[in-house]
Amino acid sequence: MTTRTQPSARSRPSALGQPATMKAAVYRRFGAPDVIEIVEVSRPEPAAGEILIRVRATTVSAADHRTRSRDVPSGLLIPSSLVLGFFRPRRPILGMDVAGVIVAVGEHVDRFAPGDEVLVMLGSRFGGHAEYAIAAASDAIAVKPSSMSFEEAVSLVFGGITARGYLSQIAIGHGTTVLVNGASGAVGTAVVQLAKAAGAHVTGVSSKTNEALVASLGADRTIDYTNHDFTSDGATYDVIVDCVGNAPVARVHSILNAGGAVLLVAGDLRSIISARGKARRHGITVITAPGAYRSEDLEYVVDLAARGAFRPTIDRTFPFEQIQSAHRYVDTGRKRGSVVVTLASTDHE
Ligand SMILES: NC(=O)c1ccc[n+]([C@@H]2O[C@H](COP(=O)([O-])OP(=O)(O)OC[C@H]3O[C@@H](n4cnc5c(N)ncnc54)[C@H](OP(=O)(O)O)[C@@H]3O)[C@@H](O)[C@H]2O)c1
Repeated sequence: MTTRTQPSARSRPSALGQPATMKAAVYRRFGAPDVIEIVEVSRPEPAAGEILIRVRATTVSAADHRTRSRDVPSGLLIPSSLVLGFFRPRRPILGMDVAGVIVAVGEHVDRFAPGDEVLVMLGSRFGGHAEYAIAAASDAIAVKPSSMSFEEAVSLVFGGITARGYLSQIAIGHGTTVLVNGASGAVGTAVVQLAKAAGAHVTGVSSKTNEALVASLGADRTIDYTNHDFTSDGATYDVIVDCVGNAPVARVHSILNAGGAVLLVAGDLRSIISARGKARRHGITVITAPGAYRSEDLEYVVDLAARGAFRPTIDRTFPFEQIQSAHRYVDTGRKRGSVVVTLASTDHE
């Protein structure tokens, strides 16, 4: 991978008294991982209500894969392009999550101060695949426990906040039966653990290779999807969480207990639109989005992890310079939990 300097990124002093450029993994067109290149760009400065974070770890997520490659579920290309760009990327730096150190805060920021170690969900504004990232102080932010590495911390964000966002919209308690389809991915590993923490009886669907991982996260039962169809073994569930996109309501309502819920984390436009009508007809709840990202959801996951009740699941870690390789690995669709990208600290921190 080459590193080059963007003509627009001249080295001038910033308000922080440091050179005002940074390295960022930038893409200017949609495509394969080789569209990503590390270049020198202007470093952002925090406006009022914003914080500037020196990024120490970020992840390459399923969302980065989908956004970069435009491999989006059927029917969702146009709606997603409105946000992400039709002909070229509107957000040239990917990365939805970061863990790092706050180095500057804008006016009217009281909740944070330089030196605070935090983890942040940047969401669809992206910008995490760089040495520095800007977040709004009102974003979903949690303080990183000192016992946790930046790598562990960032691995909690994407899957954890998504899983918590979905699960907090329904009632789960002791003995609730939950099936997690796609239990080995970033979201699935988080759903398994959050449902267990709430007292549920959890069944995780994964490949044979990942059954041991899913069981180690607390699943009471695992199903190998390569030789077993979870919809036809006679078992029924109170809650079905689809993190794959192949378990729409039409396929699973017959194995849902009366008054149950289907959480569609992944799914195409048709299954999302038809879900509401089917929910009414079958008397079930269907949730199709995690809701707004909230600090309290991230803090909930971090607190569980700090107490040892939620395990960060890191598949592979790549140095920032090898971020193309991280994208290539995520593109396989086979990652387990998170793929983390690390950035070195600098002398002035
Ligand atoms: N709605 C939202 O706000 C939202 C938020 C986050 C993510 N998502 C979407 O949710 C999905 C999951 O995200 P993620 O971050 O968890 O993805 P991920 O980490 O990339 O998921 C990869 C995992 O999926 C498993 N998998 C693949 N095919 C499977 C199948 N047929 N049955 C069971 N498991 C299978 C793979 O295991 P094997 O190798 O063993 O197959 C792998 O461990 C993605 O489509 C993502 O775009 C939506």
